[in-house]
Amino acid sequence: MGKVQIVTGGTSGMGKATAKAISKYGPVVIAGRSLERMQGALDELKAAGVDAYGVATDISDLESVKNLAAEAAKLGEIGNVVNAAAVAMETSTPEQIARIDVQGTVNVVETFLPLMSEGSAMGLFSSTTGRMYQPTPEQYALYANSCGADFGDRFLEALPQKMDSSDERVAQMPASYIAYFAAKNWVMYYAQANASRFGVRGLRIFSVAPGSFETPMLPPDDGFRTMTIAQTALGRLGNPDEMASLFAALLDPSVAYLTGTDVLMDGGMFAKQFVPQLA
Ligand SMILES: NC(=O)c1ccc[n+]([C@@H]2O[C@H](COP(=O)([O-])OP(=O)(O)OC[C@H]3O[C@@H](n4cnc5c(N)ncnc54)[C@H](OP(=O)(O)O)[C@@H]3O)[C@@H](O)[C@H]2O)c1
Repeated sequence: MGKVQIVTGGTSGMGKATAKAISKYGPVVIAGRSLERMQGALDELKAAGVDAYGVATDISDLESVKNLAAEAAKLGEIGNVVNAAAVAMETSTPEQIARIDVQGTVNVVETFLPLMSEGSAMGLFSSTTGRMYQPTPEQYALYANSCGADFGDRFLEALPQKMDSSDERVAQMPASYIAYFAAKNWVMYYAQANASRFGVRGLRIFSVAPGSFETPMLPPDDGFRTMTIAQTALGRLGNPDEMASLFAALLDPSVAYLTGTDVLMDGGMFAKQFVPQLA
């Protein structure tokens, strides 16, 4: 039997697809808050032949993450960990984003780093929004101390109220959008900042920045979809299984030299928006 694979946010969207794709490495434990979503995902994964388990978890709560780790360890040696759990900017407050997308990520990394077995990797989800965000000097100073149970609170305090931009759309960005962009920018930094302490233990860490993928997190309105598709070089949204295949590949020991970096998978959205395209 392979090592135990953990996927937070494995009850929906790209986390669920990743849980299925990485089940080739060992039994998979999925984590999320809603028991109903959890049961639906477990039924789906088991029907697909996955050796799947579920542990109700709120990643913003350190004790809950420790319980996830303890339950997973009962199944065997801990292998790869994917942190897909996060909340959306359209439906969440800046406080929720700081608590879940930021503090939750710290909780998952701090809890699993000492438990992961040599040769394993941690995969985080950033976003193209993170690549578009420029942190303030105060935020950079804060990033350098990305640890502890109060990091989410400190992250929230350092968030700018408004974006400093001549682009009216950016200057008017709602507070929850600023929080999400900043959170995902920090995730990219955090994967890099963790490279050495993972490396000395024979472990890897990386983040992946998705463009727009067809999951429950994506706003349902047609206007948003049409605009997003038009901005993407491939002219379509991403499929969660495509992201899952990328995670499975990045977690494979055959790419054991990849660590401390962010990988972009956005159908060419970033390229089309920021680099003049050749005719
Ligand atoms: N979809 C996109 O286009 C897109 C683009 C860029 C980046 N991303 C990022 O990609 C990752 C996956 O997104 P997705 O679109 O697949 O999302 P999704 O379908 O909305 O799934 C989010 C998952 O996170 C779980 N979750 C939320 N809060 C949690 C908490 N406090 N503790 C534990 N689990 C929690 C949810 O379950 P419960 O609610 O039951 O807890 C659910 O399983 C996220 O990090 C997201 O920010 C997505």
